[in-house]
Amino acid sequence: MSETQADALVFFGATGDLAYKKIFPALQALVQRGTLNVPVVGVAKSGWTLDQLKARARDSVEHHGGLDQDAFARLCDLLRYVDGDYGDPKTFEQLRQGLGSAKHPVHYLAIPPDVFELVFEQLQKSGCAEGARVVVEKPLGHNLASAQELNRTLHSIFDEKDIFRIDHYLGKNTVQNLLFFRFSNSFVEPIWNRRYVESVEITMSESFGVQGRGSFYDHTGAIRDVVQNHLLQVLTNIAMEPPPGSETEILRDIRVMVLRGIRSLRPEDVVRGQFRGYRQEPGVNPESTVETFVALRLFINSWRWKGVPFYIRAGKCLANTVTEVVVKLYQPPAIFGDVPPPANYYRFRVTPELQIAVGAFVKVPGEEDRGEEQELLILHPEDPNEMGAYEELLHDALQGNCVHFARQDYVEESWRIVDPVLDNATPIHEYEPGTWGPAEAEAIGPHGGWYNPRVE
Ligand code: BG6
Repeated sequence: MSETQADALVFFGATGDLAYKKIFPALQALVQRGTLNVPVVGVAKSGWTLDQLKARARDSVEHHGGLDQDAFARLCDLLRYVDGDYGDPKTFEQLRQGLGSAKHPVHYLAIPPDVFELVFEQLQKSGCAEGARVVVEKPLGHNLASAQELNRTLHSIFDEKDIFRIDHYLGKNTVQNLLFFRFSNSFVEPIWNRRYVESVEITMSESFGVQGRGSFYDHTGAIRDVVQNHLLQVLTNIAMEPPPGSETEILRDIRVMVLRGIRSLRPEDVVRGQFRGYRQEPGVNPESTVETFVALRLFINSWRWKGVPFYIRAGKCLANTVTEVVVKLYQPPAIFGDVPPPANYYRFRVTPELQIAVGAFVKVPGEEDRGEEQELLILHPEDPNEMGAYEELLHDALQGNCVHFARQDYVEESWRIVDPVLDNATPIHEYEPGTWGPAEAEAIGPHGGWYNPRVE
């Protein structure tokens, strides 16, 4: 049914954390922009009434982005609520009734993956899956085998074109800009290869810890939480070939090609860390060996990238909160004096706001041939009117536009890459909160040390 405008939005997990932090604010924003005017049915098993759900929605928008009285009132008019167990056919009978004459609902599963299968089964049995699309949230599997199993289950009910796998990084304007910037400027592409690029570094640092999500995080860890999905997506945008147009499936084909060129990680390519104090977090096993930090190194086997190391680093309780990519070029030769200038680089900040910078060496005033490092900088401060990632992705799912969603083969390739280094394949090293992770990460880092993003 893709490309058909959906006529209802159902979201499972309506009383949960994701709905509270992301979905209600995105729904209000869609109403505000005039792009949501179909029934919105929340489903959960909390024993709540519709009024309680509305109160929760109000609280959510008040705390996440702000209440717009008018848009919120219109959202409340669209809102319905079905309370019941996901294993109980009655819940889905009620849902079928709640959907009324809708023929093309979107079912968004903002629920833990262990209940996905149950919900798929009930959707099918109750007839709610007919003509429908499904949106699933990460984690999409726990490793390669479970991701394949999930895909098999999904395909037994839905066509691939009707399955929308959310990775909210794909909804970020800043992540989309990596691609846009590369392929819209003629000064980038000629040097974007192994002849000019010495290394690529992707850092996702977060100064906060697990923020009450201890029991989720302790079954997940940094590799599953952000590397297998968000950071490989960022890497894909940096490394992919230019597409011959913007046709969705071609773009998705080219994205998968990047991952196909990456050998599965080996333990010697990976260093895992855990911040001191993590084991005392509520919900965390006091003897946990789950990583809250990971540093890794990989290569892409392609004509463009052969031999160029890509480094990824991600962690909680690090020195600051920022996600940046640094593409370092080879050092220029020494012409003015004996010492070569420092290497030029491109720096892309993708969170918390867009920055694109080129590191250059510039002569200082005076007679001597002396230079200093400067950045040519494009800043794009966060614009409150810009579509947020969830708003954009929900909008796309309602329209049937899957370009910013991960396809089955992409998800499986990304699991294939990290699969051998999941769990305890490598030792865990403790690090102090507020630092850049364990010292052991230096051993696999770039020549000259890791680049630590600075936050002004
Ligand atoms: C989520 C992870 O997917 O992404 C979190 O589960 C992480 O652990 C978050 O903090 C980061 O997203 P953003 O948009 O704040 O960079």
